[in-house]
Amino acid sequence: MLGNFSYKNATKLYFGDDSLKYLNEELPKYGKNVQLIYGGGSIKRTGLYDEIIKILKENGKEVFEDPGVMPNPTVEKLYEGVKIARKNNVDLLLAVGGGSCCDYAKAVSVSVNCDEDPWDKYYIRFEEPTCEIVPVGCVLTMVGTGSEMNAGAVITNHEQKLKIGHVFGDEVMPKFSILNPLYTMTLPERQMVSGIYDIFNHICEQYFSGEDDNTSDYISEALMKSVVHSSLIAKEDPQDYEARSNIMWTATWALNTLISRGKSTDWMVHMIGQSVGAYTDATHGMTLSAVSLPYYRFIMPYGLKKFKRFAEEVWGVCPEGKTDEQVAEEGLSAMEDWMKKLGVAMNLTELGTTEDMIDGIADGTFILEGGYKVLTKDDVKAILRESM
Ligand code: NZQ
Ligand code: ZN
Repeated sequence: MLGNFSYKNATKLYFGDDSLKYLNEELPKYGKNVQLIYGGGSIKRTGLYDEIIKILKENGKEVFEDPGVMPNPTVEKLYEGVKIARKNNVDLLLAVGGGSCCDYAKAVSVSVNCDEDPWDKYYIRFEEPTCEIVPVGCVLTMVGTGSEMNAGAVITNHEQKLKIGHVFGDEVMPKFSILNPLYTMTLPERQMVSGIYDIFNHICEQYFSGEDDNTSDYISEALMKSVVHSSLIAKEDPQDYEARSNIMWTATWALNTLISRGKSTDWMVHMIGQSVGAYTDATHGMTLSAVSLPYYRFIMPYGLKKFKRFAEEVWGVCPEGKTDEQVAEEGLSAMEDWMKKLGVAMNLTELGTTEDMIDGIADGTFILEGGYKVLTKDDVKAILRESM
């Protein structure tokens, strides 16, 4: 049965190859002081930085720079960003980059006016903000996380060896996001395919849970087919605008809360992958690809019906003359072939994980209960060993 739910998406999107011009419509809604958040320099190399500075100046904004947001943003960087925002009394946090910049901007937004330590409050105690939240806007340059249209913010604490995501309420969602597929064309191939796998796995996390007849699962199947189709075109020709734009749009829908409405969700691949990330600082999508197949093969017997449906609906496996197990396994094999074609990480060793990390990674893995089997820590260790 489709469960009861509420649904609101608070982010205004501007999509397309001319979408940056809409920054001119958004900027007048906010005060003068803008904190410009970006990463390690890709936006300077592509010229996007200059374009954005020009638009900000034309709109009479005072710009306070906050560069150097690293992939998998750290708690130390969060403290730095909060300092910049407080010192300059900023009215808007403008993130230009990928999920790391968008997530970081959201984490800063709930921390600027917060008297407590944000790591302890939001990431250890999982409390909700009680302070005024500084608005966030995003210009997306890397596709995968869906951060442009959700309220998630993942922060890494290397000292505590924890990488934790907090999904905040609607009020933390970006007020607007600008999605121009052309910006993603300069991504190195490794980042492109990592993002593509991240999209696919976001859908899997919401699909592989529950057995009810649920509209969300039909939407998920369509999104999975779309991303598989477009990914193979983009892998051949990264400059194919049609494929890159479809991938960008799928990423947004994969994690803007729509496909989880009215149903349970799993998220264990992300829980394990994030803990791997805390130990290795590896690229997010690659941590997911490395553990996915061992995880799905482990839980397949407990959710056989759905894995069979996945094989037939997403991968076109013909069930005739086969057992349910055979059909389900053929689906996972087809997924494995696709992953290999994409060139994503197929094991944890290539991401720098060593045997001595396994116990710690399992300890740092949050166990969620929405999947087909509630894992024990020993199960997590077994999956990690299988992923090496
Ligand atoms: O820092 P720069 O120089 O900009 O380079 C970045 C970075 O090195 C580069 N890049 C981005 N756009 C580019 C580009 N290089 C060339 N041309 C461009 N157009 O790509 C690298 C990776 O960027 P990053 O933002 O780290 O990648 P991604 O978008 O995958 O974000 C990863 C972070 O998001 C979190 C992850 O855990 C990780 O911390 N996630 C956030 C989620 C959410 N908010 O809901 C959900 C996800 O599951 C995920 O956990
Ligand atoms: Zn993800």
